[in-house]
Amino acid sequence: MQISFASLESPSGGAIVFLVEKDKPFSGLAADADSAISGALSKARDVSRFSAANGQVLEVVAPAGSTADRILLVGVGDVKEFDEAKWTALGGSISAALLNCGSKAASIVVDLDKADAVSLAEGALLRSYRFDKYRTKEPESKKPTLQSITLHVAKPQDCTAQYQLREKVAGGVFFTRDLVSEPANILNPESFADEIKSLSSLGVDVEVLGESEMKKLGMDALLGVGQGSAFESQLVIMRWNGAGKDDQPISFVGKGVTFDTGGISLKPGAGMEQMKWDMGGAGTVVGLVKALASRKAKVNVVATVGLVENMPSSTAQRPGDVVTSMSGQTIEILNTDAEGRLVLCDAMWYTQDRFKPKFMIDLATLTGAIITSLGNEHAGLFSDSDELSAQLAKAGVDTGDKVWRMPLHENYDKLIDCPTADMKNIGGPAAGSITAAQFLKRFTNDVPWVHLDIAGTVWSEKDLPLSEKGGTGFGVRLLDRFVAENYEH
Ligand code: BES
Ligand code: MN
Ligand code: ZN
Repeated sequence: MQISFASLESPSGGAIVFLVEKDKPFSGLAADADSAISGALSKARDVSRFSAANGQVLEVVAPAGSTADRILLVGVGDVKEFDEAKWTALGGSISAALLNCGSKAASIVVDLDKADAVSLAEGALLRSYRFDKYRTKEPESKKPTLQSITLHVAKPQDCTAQYQLREKVAGGVFFTRDLVSEPANILNPESFADEIKSLSSLGVDVEVLGESEMKKLGMDALLGVGQGSAFESQLVIMRWNGAGKDDQPISFVGKGVTFDTGGISLKPGAGMEQMKWDMGGAGTVVGLVKALASRKAKVNVVATVGLVENMPSSTAQRPGDVVTSMSGQTIEILNTDAEGRLVLCDAMWYTQDRFKPKFMIDLATLTGAIITSLGNEHAGLFSDSDELSAQLAKAGVDTGDKVWRMPLHENYDKLIDCPTADMKNIGGPAAGSITAAQFLKRFTNDVPWVHLDIAGTVWSEKDLPLSEKGGTGFGVRLLDRFVAENYEH
């Protein structure tokens, strides 16, 4: 989608969008357009059930003689209630209404006081993404028609400059969506690692460790998860050095289970196809690195992803197996489906041990229980740092990638203590997301840490304002903003 900004003048041709406030008459360019077509917009508003509620859309076909194809009235409700996330979501809703409308070009007139045209544009761009590479028979008549949007604003140059940064971040979001949408016969640990190498063209240093290297490092927790797979497990380390050479890095770690069958503790068949996006944590981390490198963020970042496939086979790990993690701590595997924490514990230990980061943030589609707790609105945030938690909560509200803090407490530790080894890899039926976080905490070596359980937010079964059904790219904009606001100089 080509998005640009132009000055505030009456647009012509294609689809034209006017923003309409609730209980207010048309003003400015909308009023001009209404009189140019003899009050057709007023009539449409009067005879329809359009109340200008936020996100409501009324499409009016332009009368003969008009240069436009159609005019869309888009309700904003009460503009005074708008924050950044609402502008972005509105941009997404407008985009959704325009994509299949039949016109190739659209103009959005953004002349309301305090309107955030840059966020509106960002939302429109984010919503235009489609994963359709395997749809070879879709008729032209069903494909989106829209190719470009022009936003008419008071200060087009300022908007263009700010938008260019958002566009780069959206490139990271789209990379994440591509990765999580890809089926597991295409995206496996080895092909995923190859895909990540493409980031080197942006100046990212990419290092790939295979099984023999990980074996030498003692990563038997991670290796155990992948030992039933025909693909070799991989640990990929990305480094973006946008700050001074001696600047302590910040770090991100992602769970990259390219398919989670559950292993010998096999998952039920219904819905198992969803487990192709069990690499969503890694996908988000990779998209984030792309975003940061594309916009040349002034920060040093280390990002590590553990890529494995969890399969049942004659070589697969068994319930009852005991593994020794890189940290030296031993783990009894009581359920091979609780594999994410086994991948992360070695990736996290390795990251803090080698890079001594300022802090470590891990992302993982870790537990079904977080969906029970928070549904698909908020990701679960677990942290021993009030400061990091507050910074992430703010970035979440602003970007719309919302997080909700959940508790950690040593009393939960007894749920994963075990007589056979230092710990077991499952708690019990109670507090499933918290015991998983409590497990990870044992591998932070006291480096300030945040765990984001994104099992409920990586994928959506329904269309959302900023993405259609499928991968959401959740977390890329959240973390990009968190970095921009707190860790760049
Ligand atoms: N990848 C799953 C968690 C998950 C479930 C993500 C649904 C997205 C949607 C994870 O590996 C898993 O299987 N967790 C188990 C843990 C249990 C065995 C302790 C779960 O949540 O049931
Ligand atoms: Mn699992
Ligand atoms: Zn999993």
